[in-house]
Amino acid sequence: MPFRSVFIAVVLGSALVIAALLVHARRPAIERGEPTLALAEATGKCAECHRRETSAVVVEFEQSRHAQKGVNCLDCHRPEEGQPGVDHKGFVITRGPTAKNCAGCHAREYDQYARSRHAAAAWAAVNGPGDFTPEQLAQGERYHPTWVNRPPMGIGAMEGEAAVRSGCNACHAVGKPNADGSLGSCTSCHSRHLASIELAREPSTCGQCHLGPDHSQAEIYGESKHGALFAAQRSHMNLRADARHLTTTDMPVPTCSTCHMSGLMGAKVTHDTTERLSWFLFAPVSTRRPGYERGQADMKDICLKCHTRPRIDEYYASAERVVAATNDKVQAASAVVKSLRAEGLLTPQAFDEPIEFTEFDLWHYYGRTAKHGAFMGGADFVQWHGNYELLRQRVTLDAEAAELRAARPKPAATAPQPPR
Ligand code: HEC
Ligand code: HEC
Ligand code: HEC
Ligand code: HEC
Ligand code: HEC
Ligand code: HEC
Ligand code: HEC
Ligand code: HEC
Repeated sequence: MPFRSVFIAVVLGSALVIAALLVHARRPAIERGEPTLALAEATGKCAECHRRETSAVVVEFEQSRHAQKGVNCLDCHRPEEGQPGVDHKGFVITRGPTAKNCAGCHAREYDQYARSRHAAAAWAAVNGPGDFTPEQLAQGERYHPTWVNRPPMGIGAMEGEAAVRSGCNACHAVGKPNADGSLGSCTSCHSRHLASIELAREPSTCGQCHLGPDHSQAEIYGESKHGALFAAQRSHMNLRADARHLTTTDMPVPTCSTCHMSGLMGAKVTHDTTERLSWFLFAPVSTRRPGYERGQADMKDICLKCHTRPRIDEYYASAERVVAATNDKVQAASAVVKSLRAEGLLTPQAFDEPIEFTEFDLWHYYGRTAKHGAFMGGADFVQWHGNYELLRQRVTLDAEAAELRAARPKPAATAPQPPR
């Protein structure tokens, strides 16, 4: 081969290799799948100590997709804007990564999540608007007008700070405003170090908060056909399937996430758990949500990946009849309490008289349970934990009302006429 051809070939070849390397080097370290030396060392050093200090953290991290893809400790623990850095064994870290430390790499999930009631509305329900910056408040109000800038539900103040902190807020922190300007926590469903979609698809993960008589979704799901089948077939299912390619082969039976979030068979994955809903079921008297038509259509699209249209339409129609009937029962009970108040037999203050608890339990426990049961396949919850209790509470309420009226102080008898 003539020298000139070899020379040109070598020059061209080298140029191509160098060009490729240059292009490659400009991609972020994460995409290259080869963390920089400094970061690799950092993770190694963190892990070296923490394998001794907090071994489970390292074990969970090593099992995560993050570890496989070269995301390391500092990627999450590096202070972001608005987070104070602390010196820690030769590194500067943030003590508490928030949603902001995830949002840098997962902006789409963060934006969807921030639109849901899991974000600002959840925190405001318990704590009111006081903890939000003006920007956070404005963002929350944009997506859920009147639901963030509102007084907290009164019962927390009556129970006291300790109860609110370890009780209410442990669940409602899913939407806590963070000092760095972001909202909420991604780890409620993914955990801190496993960062797993498999975990998020387990009904028990949602059931950490979605349980009990006031929102018995976990119990309802557990007794539904879906829940029974899931328990029986769990071991054949592929809960690790990539979110963008989830099929009914991976999960032929839905869990909470399938109906409320997943992109089953090409549907759009969403972190906005509000998107597929059509009723404010949690409200004492349920009204349609602003996006009623769209929300219902989106949820039905998910049902229709596995069911036929007539059955699903029929199922929804029955559930909506339960909503209407429950609304009637709740309104009738509330009218009794309202008239007692108008007659001056109750103080204006909430939760200081037994009948107010009867009224509250009636809608907050049993009314909600009946409605949730009707939409999520819980016959026993529509009936024995729902309507039967609605009936019983109404009888109690009427008896309490009658007692209050009977005990009404008699109007002072007209004074006897003095003898003339
Ligand atoms: C030389 C050992 C060592 C190294 C290296 C190390 N840590 Fe730690 N880390 C500890 C110990 C020990 C604690 C327990 C609290 C303490 O004594 O500061 C701790 C605590 C923490 C905490 C909890 C802090 C708090 O106040 O709640 C975080 C988060 C943390 N380390 C992350 C990291 C990260 C990320 C790295 C790597 C960038 C790292 N650590 C490197 C030993 C180490
Ligand atoms: C995907 C992001 C992410 C990665 C990667 C990550 N962490 Fe964390 N880490 C978190 C979050 C979020 C918290 C919880 C912060 C909070 O609740 O205040 C946390 C908390 C901790 C804590 C405190 C645990 C406790 O319960 O007291 C330690 C220690 C820690 N991380 C060490 C590490 C080490 C070591 C690595 C690497 C082996 C690592 N982290 C990788 C996100 C991450
Ligand atoms: C430095 C970038 C980076 C940061 C920071 C980061 N991630 Fe990730 N995350 C990734 C990459 C890369 C993947 C893998 C994507 C893939 O497989 O296509 C991933 C995957 C995931 C997955 C899917 C896991 C699975 O089982 O398939 C979840 C869930 C996740 N991240 C949650 C989080 C959470 C929560 C945080 C913050 C506590 C976080 N990530 C922080 C880059 C990051
Ligand atoms: C850490 C607690 C927590 C976990 C875990 C949790 N949620 Fe929630 N969720 C809440 C709270 C609190 C609300 C009430 C928000 C509000 O309306 O104020 C809520 C509300 C909802 C709503 C109603 C939203 C609306 O617009 O009314 C849906 C649907 C929902 N969650 C689904 C899920 C699913 C699915 C999972 C699991 C993948 C899950 N949640 C995990 C606490 C949690
Ligand atoms: C076990 C977790 C948990 C605890 C503890 C908890 N909540 Fe909730 N809360 C939820 C969930 C989940 C919902 C969503 C119910 C639904 O949409 O069906 C909710 C809904 C609400 C709502 C209605 C939604 C809204 O935005 O107005 C209010 C108000 C509320 N909670 C206040 C409180 C208060 C106050 C406390 C403490 C006294 C408390 N919660 C304790 C999980 C919890
Ligand atoms: C209410 C529970 C919940 C919360 C809170 C939550 N996630 Fe998820 N996430 C899920 C579920 C469920 C899936 C899997 C959806 C599916 O089945 O396709 C998922 C999937 C993901 C994925 C994989 C998506 C993809 O297309 O590959 C990423 C990344 C992720 N979440 C990041 C986050 C981040 C970042 C946050 C915080 C802003 C967050 N998640 C908060 C439940 C949650
Ligand atoms: C088969 C699909 C399906 C499954 C599985 C499912 N849900 Fe639902 N869920 C629904 C439907 C349908 C509604 C009512 C939608 C509407 O308002 O139009 C609903 C309503 C809700 C609401 C009520 C919001 C409000 O207005 O009060 C919450 C919260 C919720 N689901 C959480 C869960 C949780 C947690 C699980 C798992 C334990 C779960 N869901 C399982 C379909 C499902
Ligand atoms: C991932 C697939 C899947 C999705 C999504 C799904 N289902 Fe199902 N559903 C099933 C399976 C499988 C069964 C059990 C069918 C059987 O008995 O063979 C079932 C059973 C039912 C049953 C009980 C029928 C009976 O005879 O007991 C009802 C009601 C139902 N689904 C309603 C819904 C509604 C409403 C939705 C949407 C909100 C929905 N399903 C979403 C798979 C799904």
